[in-house]
Amino acid sequence: MKNILITGGSGFIGSHVVRLFINKYPNYNIVNLDKLTYAGNPENLTDVEDAANYTFVKADINDDKVIFELFEKYKFEGVIHLAAESHVDRSISNPKQFITTNIVGTLNLLNAAKDCWKDNMDGKIFYHISTDEVYGSLGADGYFYEDTPYDPRSPYSASKASSDHIVRAYNHTYGMPVKISNCSNNYGSHQFPEKLLPLMINNIKNSKPLPIYGEGVNVRDWLWVVDHARAIDDVFHKGRVGETYNIGGYNEWKNIDIVHLLCDTMDDKLGREKGTSRGLITFVKDRAGHDMRYAIDATKIKEELGWEPSVTFEQGMNKTIDWYLANEAWMENITSGAYLDYYKNQYINR
Ligand code: NAD
Ligand code: DAU
Repeated sequence: MKNILITGGSGFIGSHVVRLFINKYPNYNIVNLDKLTYAGNPENLTDVEDAANYTFVKADINDDKVIFELFEKYKFEGVIHLAAESHVDRSISNPKQFITTNIVGTLNLLNAAKDCWKDNMDGKIFYHISTDEVYGSLGADGYFYEDTPYDPRSPYSASKASSDHIVRAYNHTYGMPVKISNCSNNYGSHQFPEKLLPLMINNIKNSKPLPIYGEGVNVRDWLWVVDHARAIDDVFHKGRVGETYNIGGYNEWKNIDIVHLLCDTMDDKLGREKGTSRGLITFVKDRAGHDMRYAIDATKIKEELGWEPSVTFEQGMNKTIDWYLANEAWMENITSGAYLDYYKNQYINR
């Protein structure tokens, strides 16, 4: 049985990757290493936590001693690294944690893998999960390609860009067998409700204000999280070592339009009069340095690995809204305590 390390497996995307790998690869022992920060939630994996090929380790990637010991113990054959501080707004109010976890934490994992694999790197893979935000912000036209120059503009994206560079440097300098993918905005079940879509779904359900930053004209390219997990599977198993793959949904939406769509769909599902939830929209102070538009060109992963999204946006959104409506307890368990303090401080009406 191969030991495969997945970091950040109790978070939003990581939990979907862990679930896919546990179910699809019974010959892998999936070791999920997660610190369980505010964003990590063991309840994201209750359906698979008893699987014979699953091990959970609560640990911090910033603790290099513990990371080295884990590599020594499990002799991982592959690493899929998702653990990160991931929320742009938190990076604006507390940049240091992002630099520590996203940069130094990644370095610790690279060093432990390099040491563990020093005698034989054949067949090993260090796969780093990154974001389209490293490429900066687009105007009305154009796409991000794998060779678009990096231009990160928030502490979050700067920390991710830095970690991407370090991963590539380990490939170039030490011959580490690395892969990187840069994905657009994910939506789906199990996402912490500080991010746009679960926040809006939860607030619509509870008839609370829907805080839109600025004018709501910023554009994001949305991909169903399960399709991101499928892409990660493809890159891990079939992607070329040393390569970068962009992943996206060709599915651009202005924030205000996607919130309108959510309002109308949920009015329908909740049996409310059409237009009711749009009345909850509240324009609030814009995010500092708010990137205007992201859009991924995903031709390379489609042509090389045959990956493309498996659902339409309408199908993915319906599944997503239905999941949040059916999992009230999950939402209630996390929208209490520290979350409430964060929420109170974040949204200042314009
Ligand atoms: P998330 O915030 O939901 O989950 C992050 C996970 O990492 C949590 O389980 C958390 O407990 C864990 N973690 C944080 N710090 C840690 C530490 N020091 N040690 C160990 N574990 C730690 O994030 P997500 O949205 O699932 O994103 C996962 C990865 O994918 C990140 O690297 C992010 O940059 C990238 N990404 C996210 C998106 C998106 O739309 N959410 C898009 C592209 C790329
Ligand atoms: O592009 C990929 C990135 O997508 C990932 O790397 C990040 O980890 C992930 O968090 C996400 O970043 P964004 O900043 O795009 O996502 P967020 O959900 O925070 O915001 C989406 C858009 O909605 C953005 O333009 C800001 C806006 N917004 C967000 C919130 C939380 C609002 O208008 N109101 C809000 O309350």
